[in-house]
Formats: sequence, C-alpha cells, structure tokens
Amino acid sequence: MALLSFVYVAAVDFMERQTEETIEAELTGLREQYRDLGIFGLGRIIAQRAAAETEMESIYLLIDDEGWIIAGNLDTWPEAEDLVTNRVRFSIEPSGNLGPRRFLGRTVELDDARLLVARDVEDKLRTQALLVNAIGLGSGLMLVFGVIGGFVMSRWMLSRIETINRTTAQIMDGDLGRRIKVEGSGDEFDALAANLNAMLERIERLMAGMREVTDNIAHDLRTPLSRLRSRLEVALMSDIDPTIARRLLEETVADAEGLIATFNALLSIARAEAGEHRASWERVDLGLLVQDIQELYEPLAEEREIEIRAAADPAVVVMGNRQMLAQALVNLADNAIKYTPVGGRVTLAATHIESAGKRAPLLMVTDTGPGIPADFRAKALERFVRLDPDRSTPGNGLGLSLVNAVAQLHNAALELADNAPGLKVSLVFTPPPPATAAQRDG
Ligand SMILES: Nc1ncnc2c1ncn2[C@@H]1O[C@H](COP(=O)(O)OP(=O)(O)OP(=O)(O)O)[C@@H](O)[C@H]1O
Ligand SMILES: [Mg+2]
Repeated sequence: MALLSFVYVAAVDFMERQTEETIEAELTGLREQYRDLGIFGLGRIIAQRAAAETEMESIYLLIDDEGWIIAGNLDTWPEAEDLVTNRVRFSIEPSGNLGPRRFLGRTVELDDARLLVARDVEDKLRTQALLVNAIGLGSGLMLVFGVIGGFVMSRWMLSRIETINRTTAQIMDGDLGRRIKVEGSGDEFDALAANLNAMLERIERLMAGMREVTDNIAHDLRTPLSRLRSRLEVALMSDIDPTIARRLLEETVADAEGLIATFNALLSIARAEAGEHRASWERVDLGLLVQDIQELYEPLAEEREIEIRAAADPAVVVMGNRQMLAQALVNLADNAIKYTPVGGRVTLAATHIESAGKRAPLLMVTDTGPGIPADFRAKALERFVRLDPDRSTPGNGLGLSLVNAVAQLHNAALELADNAPGLKVSLVFTPPPPATAAQRDG
C-alpha cells in the first residue's frame, strides 16, 4: 500500500508540474511581448491565441485596471480558488460541451492590466481519480486475500503440528510402535516427521537390544553360576577327601574367573557402544599393532600347528583408542586360531585400500578354517551368539560383538567375507587427518 501511495503521489506531482511548466513558458513569452509592444500589442496576440482555441484547451484573458476585458476567450474573470500566489484553480462550463471542466492557471499583474493563462486539466484529474480508485480496490483485494491466505496457511500448519503432537502423545501413553504420518509433500514437516520416526525406530531398536542382552545375561550366566554353587556344595560335604575338595575349589575359582571375564567383555562392549573411549584417541599404527599381536599368538598357534603371519605395510595409521583396537584384533586372532583346524594358516594384515577415491587404512584377519556361512555372518556379531553351541571350543559369543562395537566406535566398516576356504574379516577405517609435526616426532 505504501508503494501504491508513492506511485500515486509521484504521478500527480508529475502531471501538475508538466502543466505548470508549459504555462510558465508561455507566460514568459507573453511578458516579453508586453515589454516590447505594450498593452495593445499584447492584446492583439492574446486575441489571436484565444481565437485559435476552438476546443477551449487553453484559456487566455487580459483585463485592464477597471476590470474591462481587453482580449481573451472567457467572458468574465473566473471565480478562482487561490492556491499560492498567482496560481489558480477554477472550473467553467464551456458552451456546447459536456459538463464542467477544470482548469489550472496562473495570473500575472502587469502595470496597467491583469493577465490569466490556464490549461484544461480535466483529463489529468480524471486519470488521477481513476488511479485513486485502482489503488483503493487493489489494497482492498490485497487485504482480503492476505487475511484469507494467512488464515488458511496457519490452519494448515497448525493442523500438521497437531498431528505430530497427537501421535507423540499416543507414543508417550505407551503405544511405542506408533509412527508419525509422513504426508509425502517433502517439506520441513515431513522431514521433521521422518526424523522423529527414525529416532523412535532407533530407540525401539536399542530397547529391544537391551532387553535381549538382559535376557541373554540371565540365561547364559545361570548355568555357570549353578555349576559353581553345586561344586561349592559338594566341597562343603563333611566326609569329602580334602584333596578332592581342594580340586573342586580350584575349579570354582576358574569358573568365577570366567564369569568375571564375561562381565568385563560385556562392559567393554557397552563402553565402546557408548563412545566412552573417544576422549583418549590417539594416532595408532596398525602395522605395529599387527606385529605385536602376531608375536603374542605365535606360541599358541605353534602349539596348534597353525602358521600365523603378519603382513604389515609401513605407516598404516588411524585415529583411535589403542587398547580397544588391540582388543578387537586379539579377539579376531583368537577366533582364527580357535576355529582353524591343525595345519591351517592365519594372516593378520594392515594395509591401505582405495575406497571412494581415497586411501583408507585396512585391518584384515584371514584364516583357512570352516568360515561362517553368509546367512549367519550378521547373526555372529550379536552378543552371546555362538554358531555351533555344541562345539568343544570355549567361549561365550562376545568376541565378535566387541569387534563390531569397536568398529562402530571408530566409524570403520566391518565385513565378514569368504576367504575360500576360511573366514576373512576386514575393517576399513576413515583416513586420519594429517599429522602435526609434534605427533610425527612423538
Ligand atoms: N574365524 C572363524 N571361523 C569360523 N567361525 C567363526 C570364526 N570366528 C567366529 N566364528 C563363529 O562365530 C561365533 C561368534 O564368535 P565370537 O568370537 O563372537 O564368539 P566365540 O568365539 O564363540 O566366543 P568368545 O569370543 O566370546 O570367546 C563363534 O561361536 C563361531 O561359531
Ligand atoms: Mg571369539
């Protein structure tokens, strides 16, 4: 509306100025004539010009001191409304014409006469009136549509928020499987709904995981605990041989150690999943780590007649927690040796691969054992999952869970694949940021 008002004022101002300027130019000419030719000369010129005005577009009137008309195309001096000095506005009804017409003019006081020159501004005033109407109508429409549009928009938005509110209230009331409706319009509300749904999905998954872990702990630890108790009960019998009692107690201590180890493994997995180790990240050379673990497992491998090799490239560096990475590698080496039959070969490798156009650090453990069938590879990563529970090997199915948690902690991609024969476990890390001089020297 402010813009339209500005347009109106500018247009009116322009029109008036145009009229005034032409009148002013004409008056200047007439004044010169008066100076050169006197009142009679001016009277003649005025008479000529007045005669030429058949359409009465311009008005000329020259009167003497007493008010007698000397020349002009008007019978009387018009009743004018004075605007400012010498500027007049009046309206007359010319004969044989349709309706009154408005004029804008100027008067000049000469030594012995008065002169009036005016122009018809009826058309211009009509245009101005039209402009006022158009601006009024435009503003009115704008207001009406603005109010309606604003109302509809806000109703629509509030209803979308209301939908989300209602669903979240239902979820809070215990209907945890409920999801917020995505309209499919692809706008911010849809994005919000999708995010909330993803969040709910994740919370539900985590809760299910937690429940499963609790169930598993209860289930898997009950057997060793009851075994522990019955051993202690036997050892407490009064008529038992002290050497047998002693052996039973030793076995019980070993059982208790196993239980502690299981709890420690569970704690490590929980800590890795919670991202607790991120505070102590440092640059870790996977090559050195691979060599250390290979040396550590050399005696055990030899005992089982398995060849264990380290294939380490220089400077395979990642940002991470050294202890957690070592634990993951130990678990993989442990599995490889545990499940590979006599005469097999285990390789621990640290190298680089091209991934998405970048050189990514890669940690890989391969063996020549039975491997894991493709369908069971995802399952093997879960807590307490042992693929062949009757197997004679010890363990409680937490090794790969920890490897998985460590991989997630380091944003590394964990993949179990077929080594034909055997299992190939690979961890692809994101490349570390360039080392500072201090880190390189240190
Ligand atoms: N290198 C491998 N070759 C064949 N099977 C494997 C291999 N590594 C793991 N598995 C299978 O995956 C299962 C899960 O492995 P995971 O390391 O999580 O548990 P575990 O070795 O049984 O026990 P833990 O590691 O807790 O002592 C194992 O029980 C085994 O069946
Ligand atoms: Mg294991």
